[in-house]
Amino acid sequence: MTYPENLHIIHLESVDSTNDYIKRNYRTLSSRFPVMVRADLQTSGRGRHDREWMSPRGGGLYTSFGFLLNNQRNLGLLPLVAGVSLVEILNCQGDENFRIKWPNDILYNQRKVAGILTETIIFGDRLTCICGIGVNVNQIQSDFPPHLQERAISLNIIHGHPFPIDNFSRELARSFFKWVEKVELGDSALITDKINHLSFHSKGDHISFHNGERTITGIFSRIESDGGLILQTEGGENSYYSGEIKMEKA
Ligand code: BTN
Repeated sequence: MTYPENLHIIHLESVDSTNDYIKRNYRTLSSRFPVMVRADLQTSGRGRHDREWMSPRGGGLYTSFGFLLNNQRNLGLLPLVAGVSLVEILNCQGDENFRIKWPNDILYNQRKVAGILTETIIFGDRLTCICGIGVNVNQIQSDFPPHLQERAISLNIIHGHPFPIDNFSRELARSFFKWVEKVELGDSALITDKINHLSFHSKGDHISFHNGERTITGIFSRIESDGGLILQTEGGENSYYSGEIKMEKA
């Protein structure tokens, strides 16, 4: 695949969710893959675990990439490389404090600035990936609801000026598909090094981790080449592929 010259871009004024738009229009869109669907606002923006992703007009970047992945083995790396592509751009804007919190969040000084929602559709042996990215771009602090006041931040708040969302989305597409290409080529050592380098947690951090109904405490070891989180627990070293690390220290 060559990116992003053949990228089909759809810019919508309003949509329920850019991820859902790709799913609904899968039959027509799949012949045009890779696609980038971007909306100025989402009426039902979704986050992980069925959470709402607030998506007011002018506030953020709401975009989803739809494409085929040639190798299912690398699926676990997708949200992480989406994070890498985003952090690479954000760290180039004069402040290098953006980090990836495994597996789907982008933090700036412990506050969430972006989130990633990766979904898949399998038709026969074709694996379609939908990678939705939401970035808080132009919000001011009072735009966030009370329960997010201490936990969310935008690029506007960080840099002290608003950002043109158009330029940002083009850069993101370029960076995102550059990293997807590395995933397809199986460049796993380079990818894993990069993810660990940009990880919010580092080796030796005591963390508390929600995995379904369970809360597990342990010591963060690393992120593996298949995207798994390696945690040192009382029972030894374990790999986890989904869940959420709590922000407070264990
Ligand atoms: C999360 O942090 O829980 C993930 C948030 C993902 C939000 C983006 S915005 C574009 C795309 N469309 C959606 O409905 N969700 C993702």
